[in-house]
Order: sequence, then C-alpha cells, then structure tokens
Amino acid sequence: MSHVHDDLIALDIDDYLARHERKELLRFITCGSVDDGKSTLIGRLLFDSKMLFEDQLATIERDSKKWGTQAEAIDLALLVDGLAAEREQGITIDVAYRYFATDARKFIVADTPGHEQYTRNMVTGASTADAAILLIDARRGVLTQTRRHGYLAHLLGIRHLVLAINKMDLMEYAESVYDQIVADFQAFAGMIGISAFTAIPVSALTGDNVTEPSAHMGWYTGPSLLKLLEMVEVDASRMLRAPFRMPVQWVNRPNAEFRGFCGSIVSGAVAPGERVRILPSGKESRIARIVTDEGDLPRAQAGQSVTLTLTDEVDISRGGVIVTADAPAEVADQFEARIVWMQDDPLFPGRNYLFKAGTSTVVGTVTAIKYQVNVNTLEHLAADKLELNGIGVCNISLDRPIAFDPYDANREMGSFILIDRMTHQTCGAGMLNFALRRAHNIHQQHVDVDKASRAVMKGHRAGMVWFTGLSGSGKSTVANLLEKRLHALGVHTYLLDGDNVRHGLNRDLGFTEADRVENIRRVAEVGKLMVDAGLLVLTAFISPFRSERQLARELLDEGEFIEVYMNTPLDVAEARDPKGLYKKARRGELKNFTGIDSPYEAPESAEIELDTSKVSPEEAADHLLATLRELGMIR
Ligand code: ADX
Repeated sequence: MSHVHDDLIALDIDDYLARHERKELLRFITCGSVDDGKSTLIGRLLFDSKMLFEDQLATIERDSKKWGTQAEAIDLALLVDGLAAEREQGITIDVAYRYFATDARKFIVADTPGHEQYTRNMVTGASTADAAILLIDARRGVLTQTRRHGYLAHLLGIRHLVLAINKMDLMEYAESVYDQIVADFQAFAGMIGISAFTAIPVSALTGDNVTEPSAHMGWYTGPSLLKLLEMVEVDASRMLRAPFRMPVQWVNRPNAEFRGFCGSIVSGAVAPGERVRILPSGKESRIARIVTDEGDLPRAQAGQSVTLTLTDEVDISRGGVIVTADAPAEVADQFEARIVWMQDDPLFPGRNYLFKAGTSTVVGTVTAIKYQVNVNTLEHLAADKLELNGIGVCNISLDRPIAFDPYDANREMGSFILIDRMTHQTCGAGMLNFALRRAHNIHQQHVDVDKASRAVMKGHRAGMVWFTGLSGSGKSTVANLLEKRLHALGVHTYLLDGDNVRHGLNRDLGFTEADRVENIRRVAEVGKLMVDAGLLVLTAFISPFRSERQLARELLDEGEFIEVYMNTPLDVAEARDPKGLYKKARRGELKNFTGIDSPYEAPESAEIELDTSKVSPEEAADHLLATLRELGMIR
C-alpha cells in the first residue's frame, strides 16, 4: 500500500516541480528607505505569497523527503543565479536577494540600500531587473531620493517602474494625496524620458493593495502590487521576440566529429537552414544543426545553451557573435556609453581598462567624459574624472571592434563591465548608447618603409628607455648623460623630458591625477612614433602610475621598452631639491606634489633599477649603456 502511495506523491511532486520550473521568473528591485516602509512591504509580499506557496506544498509534501531536497535545489539555483552575477563582477556589494513564488510566477527581489553612496549596489541589483518598485511615503511625497532612484532605474533600462505610494492609511486613504504624488512624479518622468510608470496606493502595514485589493480605496481600480508584478512583461519574454544573437563561448575541438560553436542564446530564436552572420568578421553562412546533449533540436531560443554547426567552414573564436543575417547586430570600436564608476580609484580618460562585453574582453579607454550627471539634481556637469558612484556619459574607444546592440534594445548585447588592469577588479559598469563611427570605415594605412628597414639603415635597433622616479631622483641628469654617450657612439636618439614637454605639447596640463594620466599618454604616443621612425628614445618623466607605464610598454613591440626605475629614497630626493619644489610643497604652497601629497606607484618589474643615492650619475649612465649592449639594442 505504502508503496503505491509513495509513487503517487512522487508523481504529483514531479508534476508540481515541472510546472513550477516552467513559471516565468520576474526579477525586481525595491528602492526606498526603511522609513518609507520598505522592509514592511517586502516582508508582506514574502509572507503572503510564501504562505500561498507553502500551502500548496503542504498538500503534496507530507512526509516526502524528495520534496525537501528538490525544493532546496530550486531555491538554491535561483539564488545562486542572482549571486553569480554578483560574484562575476568581483566586487563587494550589499544587495540582499530574496526569492518567493505565487501560482503565476517566481520572483527574485533584490533589496538594495538606498543612500547615494550605494549607487553601485543599486546598479548591481538592477542590471538584470525587470521592474523597480520606488517606494514613496505618502506623507512626504516625491523626494530627491525618489528622483535619484527613478533616474537610475531608467538609466539601467528597467522597463517597468512602479510607484508604491505607501502609508495611505496615515493619509485617510485620500485620492487627492495619490493624485498629487502621481502628478509630481509625472512631471519629473517627462523630464528624463520615462515614458510610462504605474502608481499604486498601498499600505504595507495593513496590507491594502499589496497582495489583495484594498477595501479602503474604492477610487483605485488598478491591480494590487503583487497582481501587477504577476502581469508585467519580463525581459526574458521580450528577448524571445528580439533578433537572434548568440555570443560564442567556445568552439569545440577540431578533432571532434563536427566543428560546433557553443554558447547561450541571449535573444531571438534559430532553426537549421536559417541564414546567419558571424560578427565582427561579417561572414555569412547557414545553420546546419542545433546540437544538445539530448540530441538535435528543430529550433532553439533565448535562454537555451546549444552548440550550433554551420554549413560552411567559418572561423569563429571566443568573443564572436552569431546573429541573424536579417537583422544583424552592429560592429564598432568607438561608442557613446553611460558609465557608472564603482571603485575608489577614479576613472581617468586616457587610461587603459579591460572592457568585458558578452564573451569578448578587449582593451579600451575612455577618450572623453562628455558630462557627469548629478543624480540628485540631474544637472550635467563637466568632469575630467569619474569618482566612486559617479555616472557619466562618455566616449569610449576599444582596440578591436566588437558586435553590439544598443543597451536599450538588448541589455546583454549592450552592456559591459570595466576591469582595472592592475588589480583585475571590476571598477565600473557601462551601457552602450550608439556607435560613434562604424569600424569598417577605419583603415590602417599600409606603409612599405617600416621600422626594420630604418633600423638597418641606422645600424641599431629602435626602442624606448623609460625613466621613472620621484622628482629629484636624477632622471633628467642620467638620461642626459646617457644620451651624450649614445650620441658619441653614433646612435640616433631623442630625449623627451618632462620639464621641456610640459612647455610645449603638454602646456595645457597640470599635476592633477587626470592631467598626469594624459601627460604620460601623449608622451607614450609621441615616443611610439619616434621609435617607429627608428630612434632610440629616452623619456624622463615622473610617470607615477603603473597603468600608464604599462600603456607605454604595450604600444611598443616586445623588447623595445626598457623601464628604468630611479629608486632613490624620498629623503635623498628631498634633500637635493634642485628646484626648491619640495620645500614649497612642505610649506603647503605647492599642491599634489609627488611623494608628498600625490602618490607614486613604484614599478614591480622594471628592467633596470638604480638607486642614485648609491651610484653617481656617470656610473648609472655606464651601467645603462652596458645593459643596452647586453640587450642587443646597440653594438
Ligand atoms: S608626471 O607626474 O606627469 O610624470 P612630469 O615628469 O611631467 O610629471 O613633471 C614633473 C616635473 O614638474 C618635476 O620634475 C617638477 O620640476 C615639476 N613639478 C611642478 N609641480 C609638480 C608637482 N605638483 N608634482 C611633481 N612635479 C611637479
């Protein structure tokens, strides 16, 4: 008897779980403060719906252990889903994910702290959200904070904005209160281009309009909050209708029986026979098969992970995207983008970062910050850097073209994260607005007389000897001596020196971190041209940041960049003080002085390290000359 009974339960459970699994998942965030009643509201949503959920469980559960484990597995899977995003971003954030379900849907709510300094938390919670609930205290109306959250939600492309006008019980459930708040928000929404939002009068405390319609507000005929959350379209459904896109995660081994391209479909659907284009190369082919572990499929759609084979031999590597030929994605390497900065070290235009978009990771830079947005006033401000939690509209330039769709059309194809190249930490998140120019319009002009032919004529290799160190460490002195010796040997040289370059090319730059980044970027680019012209270039700049020295190194070929770290102790450099600048800085008359109130990041693996408190300038120059010979730069 008990046997049969067990089987029946197992059947029911499987059926229940299957249905549960098929339910759509809605992700939403709640914005507001504890004072607005946020915790109460979330608590009520969870409590009322979870009860519902657990009620159903109770009827089929009884003593079945199977349910326990499977339910946990489901909960965990959903939760991990949310957390995976967080982990992938590699930043410590403070977002609590909660999971609940009703008959109609499953929900994940990301509860994000609402203060201004938590912008990045909100970004993290919101980047996958389908809806945002902006909580308003009916007694206080639309606040700066409400506008900030509304703006951010809009910026992050959240399609459903819900104003939960709370504490209506304290305002005698008055329609006029509701109308006023809706009108206020409407005015703001129009200003920033929010085309639609839904306002619901609620009382989290009494439960009015939260999960059940209110008995106190007959004038409101719309749905309860939970009902609305059950109805709004989830982004995943919208993506089913969008054009087909599949970033290639990996290509299966060439010795396998077929060559297949594996990945998750981020939007649209495909079937064998359909014409596709491979980006960024632009080659066209047709889908031959859709392969999965469970056999071939006649069709696959957004959300599925599959292996596609094509009718032609095409080269695609990780970072490539297979798209429908009917509505292909764009390809570009220069964009306008919205960027939210998430680390203490500011974003500087000109500095190189890794841009991770979909499955491709490329090196790129912010070429200009068009403006920064004050999220409280929505003013556009001029900015030469973006600080922690700063939001800016920027131009970016990547070193390789990528396939993309504008963020507002397709979040997965239009978003990227920025990674610090030194720390490997995620330092920002971005949304692509549009391409500034199409990649296929840019050509690298081929020239026949190249670096190698010039080197032959000159009788030595071209390269760059990059001096770095504190002011007064002896960079200019040693570089100058070295150049004289090289010149005497018939080597074609050029010395780029900080004090000189700052009188001409970089006359417009000062000593803020942003200006120093740009100073070194220009020097590196000019130096690269001179190396290309066949010269042995010497540079003498403090160049305090690893990031820009790395940039200079990468502009050149292997072996051409020789970093010389003048590791002279600060007290020695300060005692020398050839220009009296340290004294000025100590007196507070000179701000941002390196080593005093501006940082110096020492090289970790310079080719040559010299302590000029121990060796004379002549000895240093001799040593460098000998090293250049050993390295085969000169004869
Ligand atoms: S860098 O940091 O951008 O690489 P750079 O080498 O071009 O600096 O210029 C440094 C020189 O500018 C110093 O040798 C010094 O003579 C002068 N100087 C003026 N103000 C400063 C400052 N605040 N910090 C460092 N150097 C300064």
